Parts: sequence; C-alpha cells; structure tokens
Amino acid sequence: MTTQATRSTVETDPGKVELHARNVVFDVSKTPLHWIPDHPMSSNMITVLNLLLPEGERWFVETFNEALPLIKDEALAADMRGFVGQEAMHAEVHDRAVESWLRGHGVDPTGYLKQMEWIFLNVLGPRDGSPEQKQKHLVERLWLIAAIEHYTALLGDFALNCSWEERGADMNMADMFIWHGAEEVEHRSVAHDAAAYFADSPLRRARAMSLAFPFLVWLMARGFRFINSQDPSVADKSVLEKTSLYVKSYFRDSRAGVFPKLSHLALATVTYFKPSFVPADIGDTAQAVAFLAASPGARRAA
Ligand SMILES: [Fe+2]
Ligand SMILES: [Fe+2]
Repeated sequence: MTTQATRSTVETDPGKVELHARNVVFDVSKTPLHWIPDHPMSSNMITVLNLLLPEGERWFVETFNEALPLIKDEALAADMRGFVGQEAMHAEVHDRAVESWLRGHGVDPTGYLKQMEWIFLNVLGPRDGSPEQKQKHLVERLWLIAAIEHYTALLGDFALNCSWEERGADMNMADMFIWHGAEEVEHRSVAHDAAAYFADSPLRRARAMSLAFPFLVWLMARGFRFINSQDPSVADKSVLEKTSLYVKSYFRDSRAGVFPKLSHLALATVTYFKPSFVPADIGDTAQAVAFLAASPGARRAA
C-alpha cells in the first residue's frame, strides 16, 4: 500500500492529463464488514458507495454516450471518452466487491440495488419528445452529473488525504476507494466542461445542485439504514440507541480523519454556487496521479 507520506507529498503539477481507464484488481473477499477497525458506522456509511455508485456511474456513461455525437470539440470529446472508460471500470469494480465481499457478510443488497436501478433507468433516463426537448433534457442531466461529480471529487480528495491507513483500515478496501477517489480527482472537470459546452449559467448550476444535494443525502441515508438493518452489531438497537450511536460515531470518526467533516462538505456546497467556481479548485491532480502510479490494485493488474 502506498504510504500516507507518499499520498501527502506535493508533487510537481503534471499539467494536462490524458484520461484513461486503468485495469485494476482488488481482492476484498477476506475484508471484514467493518473495514475501518473501531469505526463500524463510518465503515458502513462508506460501504453504501459500493451499492449506490455502480448504477449512477452506468447512468453517467449512458448520458455521456448520448452527448458525445453532439460534441465538435475533439479535446473535450477525448476527455469524455476517458471519463466514460473510468466510470465504467468503477461500476464494475464496486459490483465485484458487493458480490465477493458484502454478500459473504450476510448483507443481501438486492432491495437497494433494485431501487437504484429503477431511479437511474426510469427517473433519470432519456425521454421522448422533439429533438429540442430531448437536447434540453440531456443538458439538464449533464448539469446534474456535474453537480454530483462535485461531491465525488470532494470525497476523492478526502480519500487521498484521510487517515484510514494509520487507523489500521483493511488496505485492500482502502486501496479500492482511494483508487476510485484519485480518478475522481483526475477527471473532476470533465462533467462540468461537457455540460458547459451546451449551455452555462449560474441558474443552471444552482438548479442542478439544489436537486443533487438532497438526492445524494437521501440515497446515502437510505443505503446506511439498509446496511445497518442487516448488520448484527446495530440491527437490534432501538431508534434512540441508533441515533445516539450515529451522532457519537460521526464526531469521533470525523475527528479521527476516517470520515469527512460535514461542515467541510456544506462549505464546499456553498462554494459551488459562486459564479467564479471551477472544479479544478478542489483536489490536487499531481497527488492523484502519484497515488494511481503506486496503487497496489493498479500495479497488481499491470
Ligand atoms: Fe466514479
Ligand atoms: Fe466521476
């Protein structure tokens, strides 16, 4: 595993990076359910991403593939193709983790996965209508993806700088999430650029963010309750006991650096509304690229 020191090192700016999917192998079959020791609630909350992300990322891929024939800027189209390759690989890796690891711990993900499939295929898929109506709907979905990618970049930056390693987290699972997070930092501008290619305005961004933020909070909270209902360490606790556990865990875990601070995410949400906001303001491409060059999961596949 890459050391924290390597992850924290400030590297030379690599300049424009050519985006490409990396072949990776993560063996999480022996990973404990609570993969950050002594931090079961943060483990479960971050595990929700294994269930939530694949359908969302397949939706990104389909929406980008719908947009690509309309893009006449070859550099942007190349970035979008790199983004599509990376997101498709992310979805596949998280699907594999759910099959080889989560089910083995007695957590049946079927109910939640079906809900995600329904939301991303039926609610957020393409709609019938005139060519103008179809394009309008496409641009709205591209802005929604850009707003969601604001959070994947923030979480990616968190993963690259958190203290999972020092806290003894399972390094196969941590490597998987940091690899994903590093690629999120690497391609953080692409969805924004793709949406802005068609139409950009503070109103469009604000409208997309005001949908994306509650949507993500709702999906994460739903997934967290879903996993906890099958986790024997919490399933039988009363509502009061669970609430107390969640609040205490949040303050303890965010102080320990194993879970993002909600105040930081809230502030970053406000920043998104500034007209001067650009995705490159979040995270460090050099740090992400350095991690990706050293990630055991990527090296194993190579
Ligand atoms: Fe992703
Ligand atoms: Fe992404």
